[in-house]
Amino acid sequence: MSWYTRMAAEILAPLVGKEPGAVLETLVKPPKTEMGDVGFPCFHLARERKSAPPKIALDLAGKIALPADSVFSAAQAAGPYVNFFLHPVRLAEETAGAALAAPRDWGCSRDGEGKTVVIEYSSPNIAKPLGVHHIRSTMLGAALSRLYRARGWKVVEMNYLGDWGTTFGQLMVAYKQKEKETPDQAVDVHSLLQLYLHYHAGVKEDESLADEARAWFKRLEDGDAEALRLWKIFRDESVENLNCLYERMNVHFPEEGYKGEAFFNDRLDDVIARLREQGLLKESEGALVVDLDAFAMPPCLILKSDGASIYATRDLASAEYRQAAYRFDKSLYIVANQQELHFRQVFKILELMGCDWAGKCEHVKFGMLSFGPGVFGEAAATGSTRRGRVIFLEEVLDRAVEKAKNLIVENARSEEVLANADRLAEEVGVGAVIFSEFSQRRLKDVSFTWEKALSLRGDSGPYLQYTHARLSSMLRRYDKAVTAKPRWELLDSPPVKEIFLKLAEYSDVLAEAEAENEPSLIATHLLELSAQFNRVYTDKENHRFISDDEPRTAAHLAMVEAIRLTLAHGLGILGLTTPEAM
Ligand code: ARG
Repeated sequence: MSWYTRMAAEILAPLVGKEPGAVLETLVKPPKTEMGDVGFPCFHLARERKSAPPKIALDLAGKIALPADSVFSAAQAAGPYVNFFLHPVRLAEETAGAALAAPRDWGCSRDGEGKTVVIEYSSPNIAKPLGVHHIRSTMLGAALSRLYRARGWKVVEMNYLGDWGTTFGQLMVAYKQKEKETPDQAVDVHSLLQLYLHYHAGVKEDESLADEARAWFKRLEDGDAEALRLWKIFRDESVENLNCLYERMNVHFPEEGYKGEAFFNDRLDDVIARLREQGLLKESEGALVVDLDAFAMPPCLILKSDGASIYATRDLASAEYRQAAYRFDKSLYIVANQQELHFRQVFKILELMGCDWAGKCEHVKFGMLSFGPGVFGEAAATGSTRRGRVIFLEEVLDRAVEKAKNLIVENARSEEVLANADRLAEEVGVGAVIFSEFSQRRLKDVSFTWEKALSLRGDSGPYLQYTHARLSSMLRRYDKAVTAKPRWELLDSPPVKEIFLKLAEYSDVLAEAEAENEPSLIATHLLELSAQFNRVYTDKENHRFISDDEPRTAAHLAMVEAIRLTLAHGLGILGLTTPEAM
């Protein structure tokens, strides 16, 4: 689907007496490009017109008067179809020409203007290093934030840290034990992990530690100064470490974006009071729940028998906060599949509480990321933190960068690339990990392998970065300003047309990616565009990009720049950098 299809619908609409939208739904792509670029089947008009489809097609085609500057050069009847043919030069002008004339606007849109979207993503449970599974929410959320922005929305990025709970009590127990030996222990995210492991090893031997941990958490909930001091140290250290990792992945949460679970502590009583007033609370085995039987869901726990409020209650408070603070048109939660029921319950309760905006909340779910055996030594990604066998995101990034460096050094074509190998390795290695997130639709599980992620030929981030570098180097070699108005007719060939058709779809792909919250559609599109380019590029017989024929060279290089712009824009949305040379 693209804008020229919509144009065909608009031309046809008055002739068939229907809304353009209704016509659009019936349009098809002819099986071969020689048969046209957009086809209108006339079968469904046969009955109302009491005429045979081929006759209707002839009649309609006869009535179509294309304006002189139309992107279509002809509309012809072929059997029961009316087929529209794109004018090759105008197609090039409207796509590559438009990109070059206004590169900053390329791919952008104002569709979202005046609308606000809150996007919650990453949201790890802190006080331990970021596990690699958190990369999915982080990368998806960051890409969606950039996508919505490119589409004109106001975007509020939020990181709902898991920064409250019994884990903090456990860390305090371990910290206090260590303090006896090392009074001024320094705390960083790795020593926090050691404290965590220390506690879990200890509690196996001595169960009373669990009571101690609960007591410390109780002190924290009651606002005890020492407990709060430690909590703050643990939280600050964790956030600092997170920020370093985010920085490497081109993710930037503004300070006010960190609204973790703790932030909502003093809003829970109010939520519970209102649920009670509205008669939504029910007692069950000493706990308070909202009964959701009528909606085919299990009851949702609001307050535990020991008085501890829980996950769902905080999410209710936090959803209300997001609405009050930002008056959102959409509120997205980029959270794993496993929490599907939780969000259905929370959104339903909001609705029952009379929040008329509940329908604007959406759980954007995704499948699992798995590492086969062998990918990461013996440690499997599914291993639990408790046994110290979880794979940390930092290690994955470091390993990717190390591998990317080998790849770059092996393939380097210039001294300059070798001299920049470290910086490039960071861009390519991290890019490879990021892109693998988008190699499939988000609901599919991703199984990560180094071969796939780092392949220079396959569908990978490095492949696209490499294509971008190749285009850039061609433009450097040309060494002249690229014109937005070359003699496009010199490029008139079917494979080049395919490139322009791909460029024509780009902004619609972004619209679709937004509508489905599916950045992988962008990744797929960029891969297709690159494949299309490589097909033309390797066809040396028909396409010499740079030659003595200046007008032909200018047309080729204008196309090259339009493709490069598109790759840079799309990869930028996904979170990858685009090196100029590789
Ligand atoms: N901290 C949670 C976890 O790591 C995810 C939070 C999801 N967001 C939310 N609003 N409940 O599992």
